[in-house]
Amino acid sequence: MFYDLARRFMFSKDAEWSHDFALSNLKRFANTPLSMCWSQSVASRPTTFLGLELPNPVGLAAGLDKNAECIDAFAQMGFGFIEVGTVTPRPQAGNDKPRIFRLPDANAVINRMGFNNKGVDYLLENVKNAQYKGILGINIGKNKDTPNEQGKDDYIHCMRKVFTSASYITVNISSPNTPGLRDLQYGEALDDLLGSLKNEQLDLAAKHGKSVPMLVKIAPDLDQIQVEQVSESLINNKIDGVIATNTTLDRTAVQGMQHADEAGGLSGQPVRQKSTEIVKEIKRLTNGELPIIGVGGIDSAESAKEKFSAGADLVQVYTGFIYQGPPMIKKIIDSL
Ligand SMILES: Cc1cc2nc3c(=O)[nH]c(=O)nc-3n(C[C@H](O)[C@H](O)[C@H](O)COP(=O)(O)O)c2cc1C
Repeated sequence: MFYDLARRFMFSKDAEWSHDFALSNLKRFANTPLSMCWSQSVASRPTTFLGLELPNPVGLAAGLDKNAECIDAFAQMGFGFIEVGTVTPRPQAGNDKPRIFRLPDANAVINRMGFNNKGVDYLLENVKNAQYKGILGINIGKNKDTPNEQGKDDYIHCMRKVFTSASYITVNISSPNTPGLRDLQYGEALDDLLGSLKNEQLDLAAKHGKSVPMLVKIAPDLDQIQVEQVSESLINNKIDGVIATNTTLDRTAVQGMQHADEAGGLSGQPVRQKSTEIVKEIKRLTNGELPIIGVGGIDSAESAKEKFSAGADLVQVYTGFIYQGPPMIKKIIDSL
């Protein structure tokens, strides 16, 4: 009921304005009585993933709370885990506005935000100030003006900073909105990046006496050979898990719709099947040995179960949540 009203209001406004409006209110009222507008109890579905204990396997995907400003509010909605970021070493403004577009006929969104965020130090301050003690993923990226050849340094910088605050760290090499970023998903560039990050992860674990799993987030637009190469590289470099997938560049499913030709990544229902196929293929290629978080087009119990059946250990949601709000989270978790 509450979300129906909130949604009607927000969908009458510009998409990014609504996003900022929602986040500022979630932040402001999270630990006040007004949080009852979105707080809900969900079924207990305890899950273990990479040694982490979660109350349920349904998480918030990266990109909604880029600066970790609303962790407590999202926890109150019942998410089993929360991923914040993508965060970069230095603050950056992202691309020019408008840069988010709704495609309601397809239950989809196109975005070209471009890693707008306030930088890793700001994010860490928010993480420290949150009351949330649950599972927190921190998703890291590189600044737009850092050339790909030095991209590794940005990831290492962020990894060092967030290591002791994160339950797991996600290396995002699959945003379509940072020029050249997806090139890091291929061949030598990928092996070089993952090898270096693995060494750093091990050094940091020894230094802090704490191991923090590292996951890599990949695009849905990889062809068969590329999925094989990525899977091989993830296994060879002993990466702890994979998040499949980010948004797609493919517009086949939304052809002719308003905004369909906007540049950026398409998310929501049109990416559902592609993401599921990637999850399935990674599961097969890695003989089920690589833990997988499935994300892309989940907006119901059925679509969540599809990802689990394909091989996902956990799932995340973003676009479905924009369209349906907290009740969707409860519906999915209670159905498991
Ligand atoms: C507006 C918007 C911003 C996003 N920003 C990020 C981001 O910063 N980092 C990231 O890893 N994924 C980002 N994503 C991708 C989502 O985390 C998710 O992988 C993708 O949207 C597919 O899931 P969905 O269909 O449930 O939305 C973003 C998605 C949207 C719609």
